[in-house]
Amino acid sequence: MKVPLHDLESQYASALQNYLAIPAEAALHRAYELGRAALENGVGVLEMAALHHKALATLLSNKRRHEESIHFAQAAENFFVESLAPFEMTHRAVQEANTALCQLNERLEEEAKRIAHTLHEETGQFLACVYLALEEVGRDLPPPARGGLHRVRDLLEQIGAQLRQLSHELRPMILDDFGLLPALEFLADGVSKRAGLQISEEGPEDGRLPTSVETALYRVVQEALINVSKHARATHANVRLWREPRMVHCSITDDGVGFDTSTVLGKKGHRGLGLVGIRQRLDVLGGTLQINSEHGRGTQMLIDVPLEM
Ligand SMILES: Nc1ncnc2c1ncn2[C@@H]1O[C@H](COP(=O)(O)OP(=O)(O)OP(=O)(O)O)[C@@H](O)[C@H]1O
Ligand SMILES: [Mg+2]
Repeated sequence: MKVPLHDLESQYASALQNYLAIPAEAALHRAYELGRAALENGVGVLEMAALHHKALATLLSNKRRHEESIHFAQAAENFFVESLAPFEMTHRAVQEANTALCQLNERLEEEAKRIAHTLHEETGQFLACVYLALEEVGRDLPPPARGGLHRVRDLLEQIGAQLRQLSHELRPMILDDFGLLPALEFLADGVSKRAGLQISEEGPEDGRLPTSVETALYRVVQEALINVSKHARATHANVRLWREPRMVHCSITDDGVGFDTSTVLGKKGHRGLGLVGIRQRLDVLGGTLQINSEHGRGTQMLIDVPLEM
């Protein structure tokens, strides 16, 4: 239930007063409950500190001798710390969830590598067998019937090329072997062909980034380009990478329909996982995402990732 901030302030002030009068366990537990209520109502730690300071200042202003004030302030500290316990627990839970997500991401990357490899190697071998079988069948056929087999062969070649493209995009070996820019060029090429939009890429040709940064940026750009192809109705997109000594930047820009970021990002309940996933990947690396978008004016995503020295 939503508790207005001023109600919380007065409840906190009177609970603190009770605790200072009789510093019993039950009164301290009230601090914990108020902390939980504050958390549920979206009150932040800084607001809690301000609220505590205000309540304490009022109580101390009415008071007393110097020693008594010191004693009050020390007891009030216990009360304040207890009210922050729910924040601390939430903070730990978020850290643990982040670590778990990070491990999950690593496992997914491994799994993607395995599937990409299987898709690439096994379907390649399988198709090679099919070509041989077709050739054998063709040898026994009269020449006019062989034309049909050529068409089947062409179609199989297209399927083979698509499977190879998909397997490379799933976990591009090019990313491991040649680095981020070539992998992004390859990705953009695939998205561009499938979605029918032009995508240009720019960035430093040489130098590698840490593997975790390259993988994260590849996944971020992949999701951003999928979003462009799904939502933007754009004709052009641009992916740009640039480096500073301690930072790598990336922008993905499109000339599509744009969107209202505050509505989309502020929406509670059901919403897509793409942007959340991007933020989560960047959080782990201490990176940030900024989205500039307006209806009818396209979208720009700006990503900064610090590089450990
Ligand atoms: N480049 C873009 N142009 C226009 N709208 C966009 C763009 N990128 C994102 N959006 C809007 O932001 C919303 C949230 O994007 P997000 O990637 O989080 O979810 P989704 O793409 O809808 O679903 P999911 O990624 O889980 O498949 C989209 O539904 C869309 O309305
Ligand atoms: Mg998406």
